[in-house]
Amino acid sequence: MSRFEVRSLAVIVLISFTVLYSTNVLAQPSQRDRPPMRQDDRGGSSDRPVEEVKKNIQVLKGLPASQLTTVMNLIGGSLGVECKFCHYADEAGIHFESDSVFAKRTAREMIRMTNDLNEKFFHGRHEVTCYTCHRGSTEPKALLPLPLAAHEQHEEEPKGEPILPKTETVLTQYEKALGGADALNKITSRVTKGTSVNARGEVPVEILQKGPDKFTSSMTMRNGATSSRGFDGKNGWMSGDRGTRMLSENERTRLERDAALFPLDRLRKLGDAAKVRGIDTVNGKRAYVIVARPDEHTRERYYIDSTTGLLLRRVVLTETMLGFVPEQVDYDDYRTVDGVKVPFATTSSFIEQEGTSIRRITSIEQNVAIDDSKFSAPEEKK
Ligand code: HEC
Ligand code: HEC
Repeated sequence: MSRFEVRSLAVIVLISFTVLYSTNVLAQPSQRDRPPMRQDDRGGSSDRPVEEVKKNIQVLKGLPASQLTTVMNLIGGSLGVECKFCHYADEAGIHFESDSVFAKRTAREMIRMTNDLNEKFFHGRHEVTCYTCHRGSTEPKALLPLPLAAHEQHEEEPKGEPILPKTETVLTQYEKALGGADALNKITSRVTKGTSVNARGEVPVEILQKGPDKFTSSMTMRNGATSSRGFDGKNGWMSGDRGTRMLSENERTRLERDAALFPLDRLRKLGDAAKVRGIDTVNGKRAYVIVARPDEHTRERYYIDSTTGLLLRRVVLTETMLGFVPEQVDYDDYRTVDGVKVPFATTSSFIEQEGTSIRRITSIEQNVAIDDSKFSAPEEKK
């Protein structure tokens, strides 16, 4: 299927979904003319709407099959439960298509309700999500607890819109904090070694980078196998136990975000799409928030320390049928290497359980020669 066909299919599916599940289609003007939900086309069957690939889909019709797991994690995370809370399991495994668990049938009604609410009252935007009511619990609270919490005292001067600095000013401050344009320009490649720790344990990681955008990251798994992914400047790939496959456009974009030697390069590349939009706090530090909307279904947020000028956090939000899915990276322990600052600890968090991993750098070498072949998919090598 061509991209265009995929998109038109998505429009049709999205429209039929809306027609089926909004109760008041004609009376309620909504954003029918929005672009279709993005296809997370990972090739093969996952290009297709999930109802064509799975056995018993009644309400998530039109969802790209490759987003099913993400959406299920989003639901599970919003209620604070595992898959088995809704899916029947026995010695043979989990029977995802079965409807025998009552909670699954309730969840289906809840998806309908949530979609109706958004359609009827919020112009089809994802304002209400499972999390809005559930807050990580299966029992949303209806009753206000007593005694009431004290009202917030607004003793500070009445808050108007904060005066925000110009985007270019914040970026220049960030560049200076990293070591300045001259020092940054001198860095052409980087070999990073370290460890990645998550709930399942610790594994060694190696990352190769070559400016402006070549990237390969490999992990040695506990069974000794290597799992790697890379971007050669044009194509993205993934390689592991199950062989090598090329990445879809969306997966590649994800990789491209990490490929830049400095996140500053990504921000510069986003150009006018990135603007300072607010002030927030990250781990007690005051930060300017730069927001970018690289496309209709993605938001990127960069939190830059207003005192040191360094990047503290990056959040990427990807829209799905049940709302935005967040991914977060926190940057910490900046140290100077060859005149530029590099974060020696990065914490990545995803909605999956065990979805948080901390990477610590143990050694870093810059401006070493790395052969281009290291960035292409392993199959392409002789
Ligand atoms: C709160 C309930 C709930 C939780 C938790 C949940 N699911 Fe689901 N799941 C559903 C519902 C409801 C459907 C059917 C959607 C529909 O009818 O469109 C579904 C469908 C599926 C399907 C498609 C089955 C088929 O063949 O039709 C798969 C696969 C799946 N879920 C996997 C998972 C995984 C993996 C997890 C854990 C990460 C999970 N689910 C957690 C409610 C849940
Ligand atoms: C407007 C508020 C609201 C939203 C939004 C909402 N829920 Fe609920 N949900 C409730 C309430 C209230 C209950 C408890 C009902 C009861 O106790 O009878 C509930 C109960 C449930 C249950 C049953 C839990 C159990 O113990 O068996 C499931 C499963 C569920 N919701 C899934 C979802 C999913 C999935 C979404 C998002 C698609 C969602 N809910 C969105 C309010 C909401």
